[in-house]
This record gives sequence, C-alpha cells and structure tokens, in this order.
Amino acid sequence: MQIFDWIAGVLKPGTCNSEEFIYDDMESQSGRCLPIIYQPFDVAKRMHWTDRGALFDFLCATEGWDKKILDFGPGDGWPSLIIAPFVREVVGVEGSRRRYDVCRENAERLGIKNASFEYVEVGGLLPFEANTFDGAVAASSIEQTPDPKAALREIHRVLKPGGRVRISYEDLDRYRNGREQEIHIESMDDERTQLILYDRHIDDEYVMMYGLVLSAPLEEALAMFSVTEGSLSFNAISVLQLEEARPFIVEARTCRLTHPSGATLTRWLEELGFSRVLPTHSGIRFAGRLFDSTLGENHPQDLRGLDKLLRPLIGVVVDMAAPVTSNPMITAVK
Ligand SMILES: C[S@@+](CC[C@H](N)C(=O)[O-])C[C@H]1O[C@@H](n2cnc3c(N)ncnc32)[C@H](O)[C@@H]1O
Repeated sequence: MQIFDWIAGVLKPGTCNSEEFIYDDMESQSGRCLPIIYQPFDVAKRMHWTDRGALFDFLCATEGWDKKILDFGPGDGWPSLIIAPFVREVVGVEGSRRRYDVCRENAERLGIKNASFEYVEVGGLLPFEANTFDGAVAASSIEQTPDPKAALREIHRVLKPGGRVRISYEDLDRYRNGREQEIHIESMDDERTQLILYDRHIDDEYVMMYGLVLSAPLEEALAMFSVTEGSLSFNAISVLQLEEARPFIVEARTCRLTHPSGATLTRWLEELGFSRVLPTHSGIRFAGRLFDSTLGENHPQDLRGLDKLLRPLIGVVVDMAAPVTSNPMITAVK
C-alpha cells in the first residue's frame, strides 16, 4: 500500500487551508532572516542582494514609485515593508490572523507609517472598491490560496486601468525527477513532533500536504523511523513504520494547494481581462547572479551603492521577456 493511501484510509486526515496548515503556527514565516525587517543590511551577503533585487523588481515592474500599492499575502510584511520607503502607500492583505499580527508588529517596530495591513477572509472579496490601486504585488502567495484564479480576479478588480501586478510564484517543475514526494520532521515542543509530507502532482498542477502530529519528542520520533535528524527521506520510510508509529499519531491534517504553472497563470490572467501579460526575467535571480559574478573588491560598499547599481539594471531585466518554462516572474497590465 502506498504511504498516502495509508494516511487517507487509516488516519482519515481533516482538511484545512494553508493558513491553518502552516501560516497561523509560525512565529516568523521567513525564519527571521529577512534583511532590514529582521537583520541589519549586509552588502557581503548574497541573500541581501537578492532581497534588493526583489525590491527593484517589484517597483520597476509595477512602476510603483510614489504610488498606492497592494501586497497580496505579505507573510511577515514582505515585500510591503521594504518597498514602503519608495511608494506613497502600501496595503498588505493577509489571510492568516497570526501573519497579519506579525506584519503590524514589524511595521510598528520599524517605524514605517505608510504601510498598513488588513486581515482578510481567505477566498472572500478584497475589502476595497474597484480601481483603488495603482499597482499590486503577489510574492509566493497566489499558489497558497485555495482558489488562485479567484484571487487574481480580485486583484484585477481593485487595480486601476493601466495598473500592473507583478507575480512571483513557485513552479512545481523544479521538483521533477526525485523531489515529487518529500518528508520533513520538526519538533513542535518538548512533547510533540510533526511529520510533514508533500505529494506533488506536477502535471496536474497541485500539491497535497499532510501534517501528522506525534505525541513524542523529536529524538523518539526519529528513532521510530530509524533515522537521525537530517537523514529522513521519503523513500526511506514505509507503511510498516507508520503503522508502528500509529499509536503516537494524535492528529492528521491535509491541505490541497493548486500550483498553477507559468503557462496556466498566463492563460488565466488573459482570461481575466488583463490587456498585456508579460513573463519576464526576475530581478531576484539577476541580483543573485550578479553577486556571484562580481569579484569581492568590485562589490558596492553599502546599501546605497548596491541600490545605485541594481536599480537601473533591474529596470531593464523586468522588461526582458522570458519563456514561462524558465520560472520567470509575470507582469500583467490591466
Ligand atoms: C509563502 S507566504 C509568502 C509571504 C511573503 N509574501 C513572502 O514572500 O515572504 C504566502 C502568504 O500568503 C498568505 N495568503 C494565502 N492566501 C491568501 C489570501 N487569499 N489572502 C491573503 N493572504 C493569503 C498566507 O497567509 C501567507 O502569509
């Protein structure tokens, strides 16, 4: 019997959305690694370059300078809080109550006044009149909502004519050839451990996530699967092991997420009435590649120097068409 059939048949997991599955539980959605929001900016770190790459990608692609911008699904307040100094106003809409609280706390701690956040019912209408925003950004959030096309329809409605949305998304293609099924194990507290299993249906563009809570500390749970931390792999576990762990499994949940490919996203955006849909290269990847190819002594010395370097280059990058198969970012113009 397949592991996922066993979970469905024996454990009969309850269904939930991604907020209930993951986002309501996390203290920091980003692991507190975001530059400026959680860490002082460090020009020597690659990830800090890609963060600025994202910033200029979103701003250039939406032409959002000094405008009113919507951020769909900001998580810890990203990118709302980093784009705030460059826009007139940014409003983040969050479907997780916990994430909404974190966004607000982060804005307050950083003293950012022109970023506000709204808690929204997942799958409901956005709490704005039609034609409210000059631009919109959606960073890794469209594929986390139960009905991604309905979310895009709402973004289209609240954008002004001519307004642009910039979307980054996870293309499931990256998991092909070996990572279609994965398992992770994590300690929840001193007495509980969670197994998270992913079953990725790449061609059908959806993912099933399963969360199994065991009433056992991490060490004991690892012993049940005869592994050490970091060495648990999907292929190494069996239905027999799960059956032996069955008395310790106190909760089982599942969440189904639609993960539209770039081609599907492009088609939907056109169907929803966006006048132009442009998959382009990504400022995030560009900034990372630039970091890799620039020798240390040629690196800018500080944030100001990096911004001066990246801003015009990324303005060009986000205009360069890219095949949807290369997991680019997408701009759509209303
Ligand atoms: C992967 S996280 C991305 C967070 C952030 N944009 C980032 O890139 O770090 C996805 C976020 O989208 C939010 N989300 C999912 N569906 C939503 C919806 N329908 N409305 C608002 N937020 C939603 C989740 O709660 C979560 O915070």
